[in-house]
Amino acid sequence: MILLSIETSCDETALSIVETKGNFPDATYTVLGNVLFSQASLHEEYGGVFPNLAKREHAKRIVPLLKTLLSDADAHLPFKEDIDENHIHELFSHEDGLADDFLSFVKEQKEGARSIDAIAVTHGPGLEPALWVGVNTARALAYTSGLPLIPTHHMEGHIFSSLFEKDTLAPVSFPALALLISGGHTEFVLMREWGSYEVIGMTRDDAVGEAFDKVARMLELPYPGGPQISKHAEILRSKNVASRFALPRPMMHEDSFDMSFSGLKTAVLYALKKEAEITPEVVAHMSRAFEDAVGDVFVAKTKKAIEHFGIRTLILGGGVSANTHIRNTIREMVTRDYPKVHAYLPAPSLTTDNSVMIALAGHAHRDEAVDPDTLRAHGSLPLPHKAKS
Ligand code: KG4
Ligand code: ZN
Repeated sequence: MILLSIETSCDETALSIVETKGNFPDATYTVLGNVLFSQASLHEEYGGVFPNLAKREHAKRIVPLLKTLLSDADAHLPFKEDIDENHIHELFSHEDGLADDFLSFVKEQKEGARSIDAIAVTHGPGLEPALWVGVNTARALAYTSGLPLIPTHHMEGHIFSSLFEKDTLAPVSFPALALLISGGHTEFVLMREWGSYEVIGMTRDDAVGEAFDKVARMLELPYPGGPQISKHAEILRSKNVASRFALPRPMMHEDSFDMSFSGLKTAVLYALKKEAEITPEVVAHMSRAFEDAVGDVFVAKTKKAIEHFGIRTLILGGGVSANTHIRNTIREMVTRDYPKVHAYLPAPSLTTDNSVMIALAGHAHRDEAVDPDTLRAHGSLPLPHKAKS
C-alpha cells in the first residue's frame, strides 16, 4: 500500500509518500519521499505562530510541495477523467488561489512508476485555519482520484513518530504511557491497547512548549524558544555549574497527573525583574533553572504514573522531546529505577511536526476512510479512547 500523507496543523507544511508492507503494527515502512517547508523564520518576527499567516503560507506552498514530492517518489495520483471544477472551487472557497493551483496541477500531472493507494491527513488538533489547508487539499485529492481518505490525529502521529525505528514500529507492551509534550499539548496518555488513548493528566494552563517559547521571549531570544533555551542551559550544564536562580516545581508533589507551567513562567518574570539587564549570564542561568524545573516535574510525574498503572512501555513524544536535558533525565530515571520498562524516545529528526508520522497513523487506521465531503478540521480534536469493556 502506498500512502500519501499531509500535515499542516501548525507552521510546517509537510507531505510524504510511504510504502507499507504487511499489517499494523507489524508492517514495514519505506519512506519514498518526504518534503517539509518550515515557516518558523516567518513567524520569528512575531514571536509566535499567527494562524491566518500560517494558513496563507500553507496554501501557497502545498501544491508546489506536492509536485516535488511526487517527482521525488516517482509516483502519481490516479485522477479521474471527469472532474467537476466548480466542486474544487467550492472546496477551496476559503483558500484563495489554491483551487487554480490545484486544478492546473491535476491537468499537468506527470505519470510516475507508482500509483498512490490512499491519502492520510491530519484533521486535528492544531490551528484550525492551518489544518483546513491540509484537510481541503486531501479532500480535493480524494475527490479527483476516488482514493480512500483517512483522517489522522496529530498527537497519535507523535506517538508513532517515537516508535518508528528505521522501517518498523518498535514493539509495545501494554499498559503503555505516552508523555506528549509540544507547543500545544502537555499530557500523559495511558494506552491499554492499540488505538485507545486515555488522557490521565495534562497541563492546567500553558503547554510546556508554549512556556519554553514565552520564557525565551522574556530572555530576548528568538522564536522558537525551546531550542534556544536548551542551547543556553547547556553552557552551564556542560561545566556542571548550578543555576543561581531557584524556580518552583508546580504541582510536583500533588497526587494528580496534571501539571501547570504558567506559575513557573510568572516566577521567571519576577526573578528577571530583579535583574538590571538581560545579560548572557542571566540568560544562561535562567535557561538552566527553567529546564531543571521542567525536567524535575516530568520525572516526578512520570515515576508516579509508571508505578500507579504498572506501566511497561514509556513513550516520549512531541516537539519538546527534542530537548536533550528532558530526554536524558527521563532516560536515566527509567534505566535506574525501572529497568524492565522500555522507554522510546523519538529520533531527533522525528520530534518536530512531520508527515511520516501521519502516514504511520494513517496506515494504522487504513480501514477507517471517510467521505471527502464530510471531513472537517477540528482544532481541539480529542484522542480516540475505547471505554473499558
Ligand atoms: O510538536 P511541535 O513541533 O509542534 C506542536 O505540535 O506544537 O512542538 C513545537 C514546540 C515549540 O514550542 C518549540 O519551542 C518546542 O517544541 N521545542 C523545544 C525544543 N525543540 C522544539 N523545546 C525545548 N527544547 C527543545 N530542544
Ligand atoms: Zn506536534
